[in-house]
Amino acid sequence: MSQSDCISSRGVGFLPDVPKFFDVLNILWHPETNPEGTVNLGLAENLHVNPHALTYGDGFTGSKELKKAFCQFLNRYFEPRVPVIPSHSTITPGVGNAIECCAWSLFNSQDQVLIGRPYWTAFDYIFGIRAGVQVREVSFKGLDLFCLLAVDEYEKGYIAAKKEGKCVQAILLCYPHNPLGRCYSKQVLMAYMRLCGKWDLHLLVGEIYALSVFENAEMEDAVPFTSVLSLSAEGLMDPRKIHAQWGFSKDFGATGMRIGCLISQSNPVFLKSLESFSLFNFPSSLADNAAAALLMDEKFTDCYISLYRSRLEESYKYVTRFLKEHGIPYRKSNASLFLMVNLAAVAHVVSDDDILALLREEKLYVTSASGYKSETSGWFRLVIAHPQHVLDEGLKRMQRALS
Ligand SMILES: Cc1ncc(COP(=O)(O)O)c(C=O)c1O
Repeated sequence: MSQSDCISSRGVGFLPDVPKFFDVLNILWHPETNPEGTVNLGLAENLHVNPHALTYGDGFTGSKELKKAFCQFLNRYFEPRVPVIPSHSTITPGVGNAIECCAWSLFNSQDQVLIGRPYWTAFDYIFGIRAGVQVREVSFKGLDLFCLLAVDEYEKGYIAAKKEGKCVQAILLCYPHNPLGRCYSKQVLMAYMRLCGKWDLHLLVGEIYALSVFENAEMEDAVPFTSVLSLSAEGLMDPRKIHAQWGFSKDFGATGMRIGCLISQSNPVFLKSLESFSLFNFPSSLADNAAAALLMDEKFTDCYISLYRSRLEESYKYVTRFLKEHGIPYRKSNASLFLMVNLAAVAHVVSDDDILALLREEKLYVTSASGYKSETSGWFRLVIAHPQHVLDEGLKRMQRALS
């Protein structure tokens, strides 16, 4: 198989352009730790606060320290089938950017990616605005998005696109799902992998809410999170076409840190091609250092994650108690930071826009499911990951707006 089998011709075009000095950064001279290394008198960088962290560091795709820390963290919490090692990943300024890297280097302009409705519609911009890749929506007409039968709808989407002469290159799954707050079962994930194998598609898996999973006594059949990294591709699909993403924005509540990670365990050519434009998405080395320190501290991460999950569970119980008391229907969920509620069921106006306008009059901002290309109207996404006094104020305003 040639390189062009697993990345786009645009991606192949990036390969010769990897900055030459990346080699130098990887073997930097140090009088004690690396006396055989290369002395760098070439790069215009001379600030000496924390000499390494405030330079171009180890290159533009994340420090060696952070890659090591990500491996330790992913191997501990994501149960990968093959342990993640530094050469399986690249560090990006956030998960949105990691997905855009896929768009740039796996696909060509006008190629399409299948995404099921509802979905986080910023994907349209992430794929489209610069890389010119199109989102092709998949509808389910009442089917549960997480069930096995829903996989067939993607295949129908693929076949329809082919008939139109469009080139579908990938399926994107995002779970725990934004905005529905649920996970795909292992069995369903494997069905997606099988479908990708059948049509030679890439599988992009946004696992940004991986750790935001909590106990929900209301759901007997709650599906736990299973990382795609924990599944074997053997007999299902080309492993070079599986690409997962995770970052600090959600599970660590640190959107401003701008640290994400793209994991592609069997496709070194793809990761190499990203180096050529990594200058334009180089995460701050200060954020890189802070992230590495945080991920390396297992005692802290264990403690933080269990506290975080118990707080999500408490918030879920608190908000759903309010919803039940006020007769507001909601969709049960066991993951993510939000909850889908049916405000149309209790509002005296009908359209989503009118409901949003009522909420805005009370100075309450929430998003409507129509903004996520939902197939049904009347649903809204409430973020529940807030301290109780913030939830109280928001729910009070919601009640005032709708009554
Ligand atoms: C599903 C999903 N992916 C990616 C992102 C963007 O993450 P980041 O801030 O790491 O770019 C978000 C943010 O809301 C999201 O919901």
